[in-house]
Amino acid sequence: MDIQTKKDSTHLESDDDSTFDAVLPLKESGALVKVLQQFQRSGIGLTHIESRPSRRVEGEYEFLISGRGKDSKGTREIIKNLGGDLVRVSGSRIESNTGEAAAESSEPFDGSVTAFRFPRTIQDLDQFANRVLDYISDLPPDHPGFSDAAYRARRKEMTNIATNYKHGQSIPRIEYTEKEVQTWGTVFRNLKKIFPTHACEEYNRVFPLLEEQCGFREDNIPQLEDVSQFLQKRTGWRLRPVAGFHAPREFLAGLAFRVFHATQFIRHWSKPLYTPEPDVCHELIGHVPMLADPKLAQFSQDIGLASLGAPDDWVEKLTTCWFYTMEFGVCRQEGQVKAYGAGLLSSFGELQYCLSDKPEMREFEPEKTGVQPYRNTEYQPIYYVAESFEDAKSKLQKFCDQIPRPFVAKYNPYTLEVEMLDNKDKILNHAAKLKDDFEILREAVSRLCA
Ligand SMILES: [Fe+2]
Repeated sequence: MDIQTKKDSTHLESDDDSTFDAVLPLKESGALVKVLQQFQRSGIGLTHIESRPSRRVEGEYEFLISGRGKDSKGTREIIKNLGGDLVRVSGSRIESNTGEAAAESSEPFDGSVTAFRFPRTIQDLDQFANRVLDYISDLPPDHPGFSDAAYRARRKEMTNIATNYKHGQSIPRIEYTEKEVQTWGTVFRNLKKIFPTHACEEYNRVFPLLEEQCGFREDNIPQLEDVSQFLQKRTGWRLRPVAGFHAPREFLAGLAFRVFHATQFIRHWSKPLYTPEPDVCHELIGHVPMLADPKLAQFSQDIGLASLGAPDDWVEKLTTCWFYTMEFGVCRQEGQVKAYGAGLLSSFGELQYCLSDKPEMREFEPEKTGVQPYRNTEYQPIYYVAESFEDAKSKLQKFCDQIPRPFVAKYNPYTLEVEMLDNKDKILNHAAKLKDDFEILREAVSRLCA
């Protein structure tokens, strides 16, 4: 049976519930308990509560709450009755109940002008470790490894590693069993045969380096730590073990920091060419070579940066663009279509299918691509072709200009933080850095021409 990935819906599942952030003024002691009871009675779950000094009345406190529920009208009513301000519903910044602009929020989640909450430093990603939709150790009954107790225990082991992992630590090494290595070997051997004809130039340029430096071999499953070190040297990307499958917003947020959440487990040995979810073969053979290419490394990070503080409908569009590019993208090189998406490059069957005359090829246009539904369990009927990676990047940037948010997110590679260019001083400061870079460029050109 051919490998057939689940189109990373596991990375990127969506949620129909609306989410919200609100600020509540709580003056009396015990008021929080009453508030919690009211939300509980209405079936609205609170996902975050924090107290902070009031921004409106000196000496008083207020609570910033975040929650999730199906009845957004009910949520509005409760918050209004409590005298609070609803500052966001489902990713859209809104005017508060009192007609004022949304209140500023506190560190470390947001910037100086919005109440949007998202990670600002690479360490903040530690908070996502347990915030997953499904743990990798929870297998559905139709999973090939469901009845295999040893396999389930193995995935539990890797869930625990990821749960305890903190940024800056070395990723624990896995001693893969013979069966696991054989499974990897089957995938590796089959795919390697067709990479020269089916994968893009960038992939074929990086792959030998991974063989030389990271132990990419038929008889060896590379360690995430070694691969992460390799990526850091090449493009500043790093891998982080993942305990489960994140919601789209959290998965994309990692990309903003050049952090790729990667699984360590391997598919079940009984079906080496099939996996219902992204496994270590998909991450290492599919994603890693492309994250090691400077152009695609930047393209991937751009999607992540664009997602920070974006409304939910935009997160969905960005997720879909990610799906049709970095997961299932094809490009044109010297008149031929080649694969660069990880879902294709880690799937022996779909890699051949996508370059056949069966699927439809359309030009990558983020406005259209970003709203094209995709399949989770079958090969795609449509693939989107990038004329060049520069062209795809430029189109994506123009598309992202339309995201309604009052700042531009920029990654600082020295401090590993996301900065928000949202006022004149920050913009001037950024311009000064660009001027320094331009001076270096000018001098380099003048020396070259001397
Ligand atoms: Fe993927």
